[in-house]
Amino acid sequence: MRITMVGTGYVGLVSGACFADFGHQVICVDKNADKIAALHRGEIPIFEPDLDRLVATNVRAGRLTFSTELADPVSKSDAVFIAVGTPSRRGDGHADLSYVYAAAREIAANLKDFTVVITKSTVPVGTGDEVERLIREANPAADVAVASNPEFLREGAAIRDFKHPDRIVAGTDDERARKLIAEIYRPLYLNRAPVMFTGRRTAELIKYAANAFLATKITFINEIADLAEKVGADVQEIARGIGLDNRIGTKFLHAGPGFGGSCFPKDTRALIKTAQDYEAPVRIVEAVIAVNENRKRAMARKVAAVFGGSLRGKTVALLGLTFKPNTDDMRESPSIPLVTALQDLGATIKAYDPEGMEQARSELSDVSYCDGPYECAKDADALVIVTEWEQFRALDLARLKREMACPVIVDLRNIYRPDEVTGHGFQYESVGRRSQPHM
Ligand code: UDX
Repeated sequence: MRITMVGTGYVGLVSGACFADFGHQVICVDKNADKIAALHRGEIPIFEPDLDRLVATNVRAGRLTFSTELADPVSKSDAVFIAVGTPSRRGDGHADLSYVYAAAREIAANLKDFTVVITKSTVPVGTGDEVERLIREANPAADVAVASNPEFLREGAAIRDFKHPDRIVAGTDDERARKLIAEIYRPLYLNRAPVMFTGRRTAELIKYAANAFLATKITFINEIADLAEKVGADVQEIARGIGLDNRIGTKFLHAGPGFGGSCFPKDTRALIKTAQDYEAPVRIVEAVIAVNENRKRAMARKVAAVFGGSLRGKTVALLGLTFKPNTDDMRESPSIPLVTALQDLGATIKAYDPEGMEQARSELSDVSYCDGPYECAKDADALVIVTEWEQFRALDLARLKREMACPVIVDLRNIYRPDEVTGHGFQYESVGRRSQPHM
């Protein structure tokens, strides 16, 4: 199978490398010449565990190539995936589809024999219809089918998620397209991942509904966490207690500082816009966005509460800045509004993140970056765990206490047991568990 992947961002590069690993012939195309030049040198523009190895192996095997030119590969491909960005449009929260439509027009001009054009980017319902219209307008003679194949991979676990999906969703009514997509994913459904064929609009909405549901689950447990703190209950036991009910499920019930990242915030905003346009508002999702927004600044007030409400003259050390571990991605990270809110409350900020500091520099001002967790903790009045990187899970608490000016840990990811931290003489605050004064 010959595949062209348009866009070498997160989804495009991971999907392209994984398809090549299945044995398909893949060419990843991107207009950004610097990116393609870097990929030719073997440099991966994003941090994703194992992706460098997967790319290198498949380049060496001759199955994966890169180009800035779309025309030739498209004319020779059985399938062309569109995996370009769909950022939130400034001002109105709608998804910006200009990159998708530009790609569709360019693909149209170069189609030869029967080709399936498949959108992998997260696109609002009806985008597939518009992509098809644009292609047929630009090239009325083209033998083409347009399908939707949303991607459900998570950053930091992208390759695993791609190769062991819970399901594959493919939206198209065209029989030839269904056969071709089934062939592309054959290695996966041999592993028993169900391929679910649906209409195109249904596939597009499945992606938004899935992300909105997961964002709702997180936001729900975050509100229950706040209540648990007030009534003296433990949110982790509550999550387990409800999650063991199969109808609810244990995953995505970790209380924390609120969700961030490149997908949930943008996709929930785009879904409410679409729903409003069609006069079928999704009020639950509207509430999720509002609650999640407030939460990030509320986490700063939680830190300030330890010091009577003000952080004037205090130094706060943050461990973790990225929106989740195993990524360098700072997009919509809760740490961004958290830092601003802490600064508004008077705090001086120090921070350490294993991968995210370079990106953080362009998002945050007046932060001093440190070389490791202990340097970060040095002379701080409070240590706030923002992202649950593995390396923060077993810190030397005695050493931390010696480094800090004041022994306070605010653990926004609940990665410590309260008694072990207070046992070392810290005041320990976490999420959805009663606050623990030092013993
Ligand atoms: C998400 C979806 O999981 C994936 O299917 C989709 O394709 C893209 O969006 P991603 O953004 O990479 O993936 O990260 P994810 O692991 O889902 O986490 C998103 C955010 O939710 C993070 O900020 C994370 O910290 C937060 N989260 C997640 C919680 O606060 N609690 C949880 O229980 C789970």
